[in-house]
Amino acid sequence: MQTCPHTAIAHAHANIAVAKYWGKRNSDLNLPCFDSVSFSVDALNTTTQAHWSDTYSSDALIIDDHQIPDHQMGRISRILDDIRKRKNWDKHCRLTSTNNFPHSSGLASSASGYAAAAVAASVAADLNDSQEELSRLARLGSGSAARSIAGGWVRWHAGHAPDGSDSFATSFAPPNHWPLQVFVVMISDAPKPVSSTEAMLRSQTSPFWEAYCHQAQTCADLAEDAIKNRDFLSLADVMHQSALMLHALTLSCQPPICYFAPKSIELLQFVLRSCRALHVCCTLDAGANVVVLCEEPAAPFVKNQILSLNVPFIQTTIGGGATVD
Ligand code: DP6
Repeated sequence: MQTCPHTAIAHAHANIAVAKYWGKRNSDLNLPCFDSVSFSVDALNTTTQAHWSDTYSSDALIIDDHQIPDHQMGRISRILDDIRKRKNWDKHCRLTSTNNFPHSSGLASSASGYAAAAVAASVAADLNDSQEELSRLARLGSGSAARSIAGGWVRWHAGHAPDGSDSFATSFAPPNHWPLQVFVVMISDAPKPVSSTEAMLRSQTSPFWEAYCHQAQTCADLAEDAIKNRDFLSLADVMHQSALMLHALTLSCQPPICYFAPKSIELLQFVLRSCRALHVCCTLDAGANVVVLCEEPAAPFVKNQILSLNVPFIQTTIGGGATVD
């Protein structure tokens, strides 16, 4: 069978940070102020096909049958321009992408989306990029996408270089390192009131910003140690601190941003109450949805609590890294 030249299909999972990326030292390159730590979410995937050709007059990105308008192509262009420059090409790329989770579920698809796009576009250009290089490439689309290249438990090294050459993510434990159960609880499908990009910037107006900067890098260290040692309560402590610091910043910046919905608080209160007895913990990104982690014996009880909220949820496990067909 003949395959079409300069075509590739890649798959990437969403990831959830246990020590958050929040704050940039360079907005054009999505360079973070601090390291962050995350896990890959097995059930949430993006599949993207890339095709480079001289016959296209511009780049195109089609997500779930919906063509992204030109004015929203800036982030994907950074990835494609980087490839064009390295190849010394003037070809354009057509990216066709599908998410296996509903578009309007309120789940962040940018991490898996930019990671799958970066891998597909790089492989289709025959670049033979390493995982580190692919992580740097995905970061140009969205910071958190840097963590969706490697699988399992991942650390994004913030790096120091002004050009971002040392800012990429690597895996420090495989998916089967710790058989935790993951519940992605879709509390709201309403669009975010303020994007992560904007909220990160605005967080610097919070009187707590300096205190946050003092603690953020320590959170990444504590999270990696807790995961390596499979120390659930230490992971729970750092995960709650990292997420709640982020929300303390958004609640106290000017003008303030409140991402919580009433059911987010209800679930958060259940988790904080039961954390030590059950071995359950949770996190919230810049939105109302809650991601709950627990050890296997606690899963039936946790699931019953989530069912009582009457909202959609996905039960899954820790996933792998990006792959190519
Ligand atoms: C709250 O990666 O969406 O999910 O780099 O501006 O695209 P940009 O931001 P993005 O921010 C994610 C923020 C977060 C925390 C995290 O995933 O670490």
